[in-house]
Amino acid sequence: MFMEILFYELMLRIIAMSVVPVDSIPSLNSDLFYDILRRLDGPTLASAACTCAAFCSISKEESLWENVCSSVWPATNREDIKSLISSMGGFRKFYADCFPLIVNKEVADYQEKNFLEYPDDWTEAEYYGDMNEFESLSPSDFVSIVDIRFKDKAICSKVQWGVGVPNANGYDGWFYNCPFRIDLLTYRDDDNNDGVVTLSVSDGLPPITSMERERKDGKLWQELFDGLQLSWIMVNRKMKQAANLASWRPLGGQRHWPTDNDFVIRFGSVLPATDILPSQVVECILIMKFRVVNTEEDGVGTKVKLTELSMQLEDMEGAHVNGRNSLLILKEALSCRRSKNYSEVLESCHLYSKVQSELKEEKMRNESRLDRLCILSGIAAFMTFWYCVL
Ligand SMILES: *[C@@H]1O[C@H](CO)[C@@H](O)[C@H](O)[C@H]1NC(C)=O
Ligand SMILES: *[C@@H]1O[C@H](CO)[C@@H](O)[C@H](O)[C@H]1NC(C)=O
Repeated sequence: MFMEILFYELMLRIIAMSVVPVDSIPSLNSDLFYDILRRLDGPTLASAACTCAAFCSISKEESLWENVCSSVWPATNREDIKSLISSMGGFRKFYADCFPLIVNKEVADYQEKNFLEYPDDWTEAEYYGDMNEFESLSPSDFVSIVDIRFKDKAICSKVQWGVGVPNANGYDGWFYNCPFRIDLLTYRDDDNNDGVVTLSVSDGLPPITSMERERKDGKLWQELFDGLQLSWIMVNRKMKQAANLASWRPLGGQRHWPTDNDFVIRFGSVLPATDILPSQVVECILIMKFRVVNTEEDGVGTKVKLTELSMQLEDMEGAHVNGRNSLLILKEALSCRRSKNYSEVLESCHLYSKVQSELKEEKMRNESRLDRLCILSGIAAFMTFWYCVL
């Protein structure tokens, strides 16, 4: 497959550089070009479109982009999602909106200004976000389109209309004040249903002979961490906007949590929360949890099951954001800046973690300073008391 793409790319370059007058290309054989373009992946197709006018017009063909989308995001193959994308302006736009990832450099501002409290001069409307704006926002406007890959093979696609909470609509509902969370998987240990996503040695997992060994060398963990990719596209149907809230590759994780057999892998992005929360930025945390279900003596039965796939938003201090603010943040996030430069995206995520841990350390230092102060004043009071008594 890779060689094939390479071949077509080479051919494109030759055509683009050749002396054939640009205008006569379509008359040569536009079917041939269509066939070439059809086989390209998104970035190559986009750059081919820039090479000349003829490619540019052929590459506007929606079916080409539909092809690209369905290979990047198998979930877009579903009929309901296809018509959703068409109603939002088509596959070409969808790809352009969702392939680049969200970058957010406002974290650095946070560091300087160090907002911790709501500014005094904020009105209530600002504190809660604009009410009018809010009333026009409903959980059912949102759609999640989620795809998981392992070693470049699609292993799971999920679509969630709304936020998956019954009766979440209605402005005064409990949903708005509770911590926001979207769960795409309802997995229980005793379930034996067919929908469970598993990975095994045949998918490329290393054979694990015992959890003892795994605890020491972490082979399975490393393989999962390096091989997994997540895309979580959030769509706002009313505003006809979409963005990818995942980082493709994991940002971090925890081995053996909460039990010995669990692996928690974290993806996500940093979203702006300007005028919504005092921290100005929040982290969108996407959690994928796997449980080791089977290891045998020889290791060939090694298997892991996907047991959790969820989204929640956390502010700089690690507190969960409630439903009301989360919807406002998600709405804004769908129109914020994106980048195709992956290292820039990662840089902004790492900057967030750095600022967050610095804040935590400072807070701990302040608290221990406060503790010391309390103890000192306690001792002083004690001594003064005895001094007076004697
Ligand atoms: C991508 O981003 C990194 C980090 O911000 C930067 O150093 C690099 O020049 C960028 N690359 C391109 C091609 O823009
Ligand atoms: C820690 O204390 C300093 C000054 O005492 C203050 O400016 C700062 O905001 C405090 N930081 C936190 C995280 O509470």
